[in-house]
Amino acid sequence: MRHLLGIKELSAEQIEMLLNTATNFKEVINRPIKKVPSLRDITIANVFFENSTRTRLSFELAEKRLSADTLNFAASNSSVKKGETLLDTVENILAMKVDMVVIRHASVGVPHFLAKRVKANIINAGDGTHEHPTQALLDAFSVRERLGEIAGKRIAIIGDILHSRVGMSDIFLFQKMGAEVMVCGPSTLIPKHIDALGVKVSHNVREALEWCDVANVLRIQLERQQIKYFPSLREYSLYFGINKAMLDSLSKPIVIMHPGPINRGIELSSDAADSEHSIILDQVENGVAVRMAVLYHLAENR
Ligand code: CP
Repeated sequence: MRHLLGIKELSAEQIEMLLNTATNFKEVINRPIKKVPSLRDITIANVFFENSTRTRLSFELAEKRLSADTLNFAASNSSVKKGETLLDTVENILAMKVDMVVIRHASVGVPHFLAKRVKANIINAGDGTHEHPTQALLDAFSVRERLGEIAGKRIAIIGDILHSRVGMSDIFLFQKMGAEVMVCGPSTLIPKHIDALGVKVSHNVREALEWCDVANVLRIQLERQQIKYFPSLREYSLYFGINKAMLDSLSKPIVIMHPGPINRGIELSSDAADSEHSIILDQVENGVAVRMAVLYHLAENR
C-alpha cells in the first residue's frame, strides 16, 4: 500500500489489517497520554478543496496523535483563487518537504491523478461522487465494534446513492468483508444498473429497515444536484425519512449510522439520530483511530 485511493483497490486482507491496527490505536487514544512517536519524522499536508468538518479534523488529530508534523490547506483562502493549478499547488506544498498528502476534491479521480504524478503518498479524503475510503473503513470498524463481525450482516444504504462517495466505498467494503448490501431510495437517486455490483435495490424504506441489521442513512446532497430529483424536501422526508417510531416498531434490533453532516428532519429525525439505535458519534470517534491506522501503514511502506 503506497497510496489509499479507494476501497475498490484494497483486498479483504488489507481491510482486515487496517481495522485490526485501528483497534490498537483506539486503545492508545483512550489512554491518559494519547500520543505515540510512530510518525515523528513524517510531514503531512491536509489539502482540502471542499468543505469538511469530520474528515479534516479527524485526519489532523490522527496525525498529531502519531507525532507527525501537519500542514492544513483550504483552497478557499489560497492562491487557487488567483488561478494556480491543482498540480502546481500540490508540487509547491511538496517542495516544502512534505511526505504525505490527504486530498479532498470535488472532481472524481483527483487522488489517482496526483498519485501518478508526485512522489508523496496520496490519501483520498473524498473525490467527488466517487470514493471516500476512510469513511467506509470507519463505518466498518463501527459495525464490527457494535455487532462483533461484518460477515453475514445485512447493510442497507438509504438515501441519495447517486451522489454519494460514501455509498460507493461502503458497497465495496461491506461486500469484500462478506456482508449483504441493499441500496434504498427514490429511483431517481439510485444509479441505473447498480444491481450489477451485486446489491439488492429497494424503493421502500420500511422494507429496507425490516431487512437490514444496519442502516447507513445518507444525506441528500443538494450541492451536487443540478436538476430536481424529487418534488420537494418535505415529500422526500415523507417517503424516505426515518424517525424513531419507525425504528422502535421493527421486529428486531437495528443500528443506525450516518456519515454526517445530518440534515436533521429530512433523511433522519433528531429523535432517531440521537436514539439508542444510533452509533453516529461512535463513527466520528472511530474515525481518528482508523485514520491513524491508514497513515501508520502508509508510512511503514515509504
Ligand atoms: N463524513 C464526512 O466526510 O464529513 P465531512 O464532510 O464533515 O468531512
